Amino acid sequence: MTTVLVAGGTGTAGSAAVAALAAGGHDVRILSRHAPAAGGVDHRSGDLLSGAGLADALGGVDVLVSAVNGQTKATRPVFTDGARNLLAAAESAGVRRAVLLSIVGVDGLDFSYYAALTEQERIYAASPLETTIVRATQFHTLLRSVFAATARVGVLPAVRGARFQPIDPAEVGRALADAALAEVHRDRVEIGGPVVTSMRELAQTWKRVTGSRALVVGLPVPGGAGRFLREGRNLTPENTYGTVTFDRWLAEN
Ligand SMILES: NC(=O)c1ccc[n+]([C@@H]2O[C@H](COP(=O)([O-])OP(=O)(O)OC[C@H]3O[C@@H](n4cnc5c(N)ncnc54)[C@H](OP(=O)(O)O)[C@@H]3O)[C@@H](O)[C@H]2O)c1
Repeated sequence: MTTVLVAGGTGTAGSAAVAALAAGGHDVRILSRHAPAAGGVDHRSGDLLSGAGLADALGGVDVLVSAVNGQTKATRPVFTDGARNLLAAAESAGVRRAVLLSIVGVDGLDFSYYAALTEQERIYAASPLETTIVRATQFHTLLRSVFAATARVGVLPAVRGARFQPIDPAEVGRALADAALAEVHRDRVEIGGPVVTSMRELAQTWKRVTGSRALVVGLPVPGGAGRFLREGRNLTPENTYGTVTFDRWLAEN
């Protein structure tokens, strides 16, 4: 039996990885600052930034999976200083492999969030541990949040020329578990949802499933971000993974 520690295992992708590993009968632990709402899991409190709790959480661990997140300027160093602290503690604890969740096309966009994630990839790739970076496309949860937020002011954005290949976070969790347990190591894995769809169509799907009356509005996005999306650099059509489309996922969630 493999012992796996999922850093960020209470989050959207991390909790899905925990579920996939537990379903496979593996010994799985969660590392995060706050305990999960539901009990019955082996949770270790720790903070990647201060380093508190990392050595305890990593004792006896074979594989580390990281799906932590830092959305704000203040929390973003979790991707850089936090990654260094976590990997140093993993190395000291004799962990064999590290799996990192990242984003498809992350090094192609000049956003500070993406820059921090790109740096995180570099830190993992340079680590003495055997490392797999799993890049995933946008989650269904992300598009749902965008549409739900903007619908409150009566509109649904459809960035002109933008397409997405959204993926079920449960399938991302399965891919992280697969990478953690793989017999043959791979440095990089890319996964995207089963279908590439325009943002306009995704907005219309959200409208249909939720019964919203918000207006779908075409939105020009100039500059690098617009070009990135129009060029489809957020997509990986040759690496579709799983079967759950956005409309099916919305209907089921
Ligand atoms: N959302 C998407 O569409 C998408 C697509 C592809 C890739 N990704 C990437 O996937 C990763 C995970 O995203 P997510 O949306 O699943 O994250 P999330 O739901 O925001 O969860 C983040 C997790 O990290 C933990 N965490 C944050 N700071 C920490 C710290 N200092 N020490 C220990 N644990 C910490 C959180 O728990 P506590 O707060 O309790 O510590 C939580 O468990 C991110 O790198 C994201 O960019 C996201």
